[in-house]
Amino acid sequence: MEVRITEDYEEMSDAAAELVLRQIHEKPDSVLGLTAGSSPMGLYRRMQEAYREGRADFSKVRIFTLSEYIGLDEKDEQSFAYYTRKNFCEGLNLAEENICMPNGMADDIAQECERYGKAIEAAGGIDMMILGIGPNAHIGFNEPGSSFVPETHVVELSKATRAANARFFDNPRDVPYWAVSMGMRDIMFSRRVLLLASGAGKTEALVLALGGDITPKAPASVLQLHRGAVFIIDEAAARRLPEDL
Ligand code: GLP
Repeated sequence: MEVRITEDYEEMSDAAAELVLRQIHEKPDSVLGLTAGSSPMGLYRRMQEAYREGRADFSKVRIFTLSEYIGLDEKDEQSFAYYTRKNFCEGLNLAEENICMPNGMADDIAQECERYGKAIEAAGGIDMMILGIGPNAHIGFNEPGSSFVPETHVVELSKATRAANARFFDNPRDVPYWAVSMGMRDIMFSRRVLLLASGAGKTEALVLALGGDITPKAPASVLQLHRGAVFIIDEAAARRLPEDL
């Protein structure tokens, strides 16, 4: 595991973009795992620019989104499916069959989790996973708990997570209570992991993730065990991390 500290959000996005572009140059049929949220927006914008300028080809790239709210249709602007199409897929030459997402509207959600897990496996796992981090150190929607859940599963969102994500909804009461998320095995079996964090709001989460014990109470802490994980974080977010990381 490696920690890179950048001056600000833009530099964080540049550093991440360089690694993702290198990944798809080296392996044009790379499988990417993609988080939603504000942290990777700069990175995704850079992917769209790189494609526009002829510096990247996504025709063989396959993507799997990390999570989805249960009960939101993909046309719903708050759904992660909508977010991913708008902020990543739009303007890239991804093949439609290579855009893979869990369906939060599935009638049988347990079966949907199983289908999604199998699809990730059939794709050969994730080559590069792009993560953000929640205020309670959640990754994807793997919330703090008493154990790590390995496979794609249904999650009851914590109060902290619902509060943090309320900013995307007109009414905070509209934030769903439940979500589907890839599990820790899908994340830990990814060959490379990039975790992006920017701003003072992430200092606590990073202390939980990097400054202490590996524990399911701080899900991102498990990444300390991942050989191919890189935390790319800006100075504001890194402010309270121990010097000797
Ligand atoms: C959500 C998502 C996470 C994301 C986190 C941080 O809860 N499920 O995958 O990493 O928020 O989001 P942001 O980058 O907007 O701070």
